Amino acid sequence: MKNDEAIHHAAEIIQRGGIIAFPTETVYGLGADAFNPLAIARIFEIKRRPYFDPLIVHVANLTDLEKLVLEIPSDAKKLMERFWPGPLTVVLPKKAEVPDLVTAGLPTVAVRMPKHPMTLSLIELADCPIVGPSANPFGYLSPTTAEHVRDQLGGQIDFILDGGPCEVGVESTILSFLEKRPRLLRPGGLTLEKIESIIGTVEVNPIEEGRPSAPGMLPRHYAPRTPIILKSWKENLASYRNKKVGLLAFQEPNNALKFNHIEVLSKKGDFREAAANLFGAIRRLDGFNLDLILAEPIPEVGLGRAIMDRLRRASTHP
Ligand code: TXA
Ligand code: MG
Repeated sequence: MKNDEAIHHAAEIIQRGGIIAFPTETVYGLGADAFNPLAIARIFEIKRRPYFDPLIVHVANLTDLEKLVLEIPSDAKKLMERFWPGPLTVVLPKKAEVPDLVTAGLPTVAVRMPKHPMTLSLIELADCPIVGPSANPFGYLSPTTAEHVRDQLGGQIDFILDGGPCEVGVESTILSFLEKRPRLLRPGGLTLEKIESIIGTVEVNPIEEGRPSAPGMLPRHYAPRTPIILKSWKENLASYRNKKVGLLAFQEPNNALKFNHIEVLSKKGDFREAAANLFGAIRRLDGFNLDLILAEPIPEVGLGRAIMDRLRRASTHP
């Protein structure tokens, strides 16, 4: 199917109340009409996602946004002007019409404008905002290719809109505007540095236990089957001598013969490239039946913050 046909087909399915997977610059999402509670309920079932975990709504223009939120504080406006379409989600007070299922009963809604031409056309054609949790079973790695979606949820959804591999590779940055100062709820594809260069200092959430303010903030999330241990491997290798060990390296390691498999996130040590490769690399390692995966910690600046956040949530012993 050509791209145009595929987009039309996907839009029709959404209008009929169906579920599709769609590409974005961050990860693939599971899409349905944000104003159709029955379709949204099916998304929760397919993902086996708890109902207390609210969804992000995707818009293609500001008219869509007005259907969802009551007001837009000036800092949010500045960021949207600068970074939309792009990997930034804003949490704002919601309009009464937004179904409770979308927001888990919260008085707020999370909204973003994804930077992918096919999905922007899809939303315009479907003529409704589209909810979009990552297209993976709850608690598992987010998909960054259509193939990943097919592997995990293929039989259960009506259509997969294939837009190629995701450019950014980690989910959007979530910022809440409910308090005096904006608060970072999830580090992601838009760096804190870029946000702060436009609106000044924002509050940063620590990882919370139990029921979190943004459930993607659950301490263990994005977990593969193979245990991941997040620490520098150089000191620890002896203790894993009789095990099948994989290495998730940031850059090319100079002497790493002892590993069964090695995935390098970015040979040149580039954060962007590393983020784009992250979930795919973990998936590949997870497919080798290893006893464990050692993941190398990386500096927590720029996109390194989002990468380390995802590694912590994927790991057994952070
Ligand atoms: O990059 C992304 O954001 C991807 C793509 C598909 O757009 N979507 C995504 O959705 O990561 P999901 O459902 O996997 O993560 C959404 C996160 C959840 O952790 C949820 O708790 C939080 O957004 N969230 C949604 N609505 C919220 C709200 N009203 N207040 C606080 N957090 C909210
Ligand atoms: Mg997710």
